Amino acid sequence: MTKVVLVSSPKGGSGKSVIARHLLTAAAQSGLNVIGVDYDRQGTLDKWGQRRAQTLSKFPEFVPVPVIAGSLQNWRAALKSAARADLIVIDTPPSVEDHMAAITNLAQASDLVIVPSVCTQDDVDSVAPWVEVLKTTKCDSVLVLNRANRRTNSFAKVRGRLIKVADVCPVELPQLEDVHVPSTQGLTLLDFTKSRGQEPFEELWAFTKRKVQL
Ligand SMILES: Nc1ncnc2c1ncn2[C@@H]1O[C@H](COP(=O)(O)OP(=O)(O)O)[C@@H](O)[C@H]1O
Ligand SMILES: [Mg+2]
Repeated sequence: MTKVVLVSSPKGGSGKSVIARHLLTAAAQSGLNVIGVDYDRQGTLDKWGQRRAQTLSKFPEFVPVPVIAGSLQNWRAALKSAARADLIVIDTPPSVEDHMAAITNLAQASDLVIVPSVCTQDDVDSVAPWVEVLKTTKCDSVLVLNRANRRTNSFAKVRGRLIKVADVCPVELPQLEDVHVPSTQGLTLLDFTKSRGQEPFEELWAFTKRKVQL
């Protein structure tokens, strides 16, 4: 059966697209048939997928990661056309408030909702109400701390606040200055044999895989 992982957070810049493309790549590398679905009109994941297809035409050693774009208001259509996959990872726009009904229904149709969050008070303010909605609608969700810096006091404080309101994933993604670099070729850190920052994404995939029972 197809498993669906939704990456959603009301806050722009929290790491949704970065997490979506790394999870898709990790899953494809493990031999799963994956499809990315991009409901963000900015098309970040979709464009990444197009660049990846171009790169693969020259360097077929990278695993294919097909991505389709769809409209959040008509989310069932894109999900249906991806139903042949073992795993669908969905990237979404921020401001869930603007399309609350659609995104809540989509969350209910998903096996896991990953909510990325940077450790600032602004992120807590934005993410906490969304996590509450996911809880009351009985969606299985997990909060992933992104750009984590354990050396700062503010990180520990904000992490403490987030733990009170959400199930926080044991895997944290550190600040990785170069995380965007491979994306120019439609690639991720996981496409290279040795690049700093691979491990947390591998661990996040291991966690996700277990959660959705793949
Ligand atoms: N762990 C990280 N370390 C450093 N930069 C990051 C990290 N995660 C995301 N970024 C950067 O932050 C920006 C926003 O990330 P993105 O995934 O596009 O967020 P969203 O999709 O939630 O708007 C991008 O420039 C991305 O490269
Ligand atoms: Mg995005």
